[in-house]
Amino acid sequence: MTSDFFTYQAQTSENPLAMEVSHANGSYIYDSKNKAYLDFVAGVSACTLGHKHPKVVSAIKEQLDRYLHVMVYGEYIQEPAVNLAKLLAKHLPESLNKTYLTNSGTEAIEGALKLAKRATGRSQIIAAKHAYHGNTMGSMSIMGFEERKQAFRPLLPDVSFITFNDNSDLKNITTKTACVILETIQGGAGFIEPKNNYLENVRKRCDQVGALLILDEIQPGVGRTGKLFGFENYNCIPDILVSGKGLGGGMPIGAFTASTKLMDLLQDNPKFGHITTFGGHPVIAAAAYATLKEVVESDLMQQAIEKEALVRKHLKHPLITEIRGKGLMLAALTPSADITNNVVLKAQDNGLILFWLLFEPKAIRITPPLTISNEELIEGCKIITDILDTL
Ligand SMILES: Cc1ncc(COP(=O)(O)O)c(C=O)c1O
Repeated sequence: MTSDFFTYQAQTSENPLAMEVSHANGSYIYDSKNKAYLDFVAGVSACTLGHKHPKVVSAIKEQLDRYLHVMVYGEYIQEPAVNLAKLLAKHLPESLNKTYLTNSGTEAIEGALKLAKRATGRSQIIAAKHAYHGNTMGSMSIMGFEERKQAFRPLLPDVSFITFNDNSDLKNITTKTACVILETIQGGAGFIEPKNNYLENVRKRCDQVGALLILDEIQPGVGRTGKLFGFENYNCIPDILVSGKGLGGGMPIGAFTASTKLMDLLQDNPKFGHITTFGGHPVIAAAAYATLKEVVESDLMQQAIEKEALVRKHLKHPLITEIRGKGLMLAALTPSADITNNVVLKAQDNGLILFWLLFEPKAIRITPPLTISNEELIEGCKIITDILDTL
């Protein structure tokens, strides 16, 4: 299998972790030798309820027995997608009440950017330095990391960058700006939280000049920061909210949500303003609905805050210089990329799954399932500190 993996499946790095997965359950993934690995990554913030959560699995199975794909997005009334969009609306501010479902996060970003252009008639998009919003051409155009996109130019025109958390840059948002798009907590950059009322100030500036504010919650969303969506922590409501990853409970999804007034613009001029074959797929939507329902009906969001405190308490070591992030979206910083690499690789040998962040080589990603137990969290932290003791 390993040889076939490298021969037939395209890779995007020279050294993938290449663990051969046999099965997964709860907070653990098992390899083909049945070795258990405690999962501190959750499929990169995607497996909100851990692996094979019974409610998610049964929602999928029930839907499998009813119907699979029947029609392109938005034509037929399909209960799972309607239920999901309605439940999102119920738990979001009134102005975020209509959702468009996509197959991935990056597609939802594309849809949100298009909607902002369509709504304002403007072309300028402002994003943040070190931002990551996905890998299709539009999302890559607003990636704030030139080295990773240079090879794919030309990309979208009329894109400018501001420095996240720098209020003095907000003057660059003007009446020419269609939208400002930000991650509520910058992910790839190193789990950077907004500070000093930054998001509130961005919101105010957008309102002054008639630009739309898009918040990308593909990573912090769906309970991970202790609130259903990260923006609830920072007193700032976006015009367009983008979610994905953890919304699917382990299934591929993206979504963008806005007001009815905004969203209805996709219906004409031009007609079919954003279309997709599989977006809102009934099996995926059923899994997402079960996931969202569990997150809002359980105390998992409260637990995320308590679990953050537990990680901060148990991950104390001279080689951990800082722990960034909120809830169970945490990054432990070491003094060097070498140390971080060592920890991530040795952790796998020691039965713990860790991972990197895209643009911050000193960061160790800690984004376990929200359902991880306190004991499992403490055990994982001990594996990390034991490895650091050997370095
Ligand atoms: C903040 C953010 N936006 C967008 C994306 C892209 O989502 P997807 O990989 O589902 O296209 C990601 C994925 O890592 C992300 O973290």
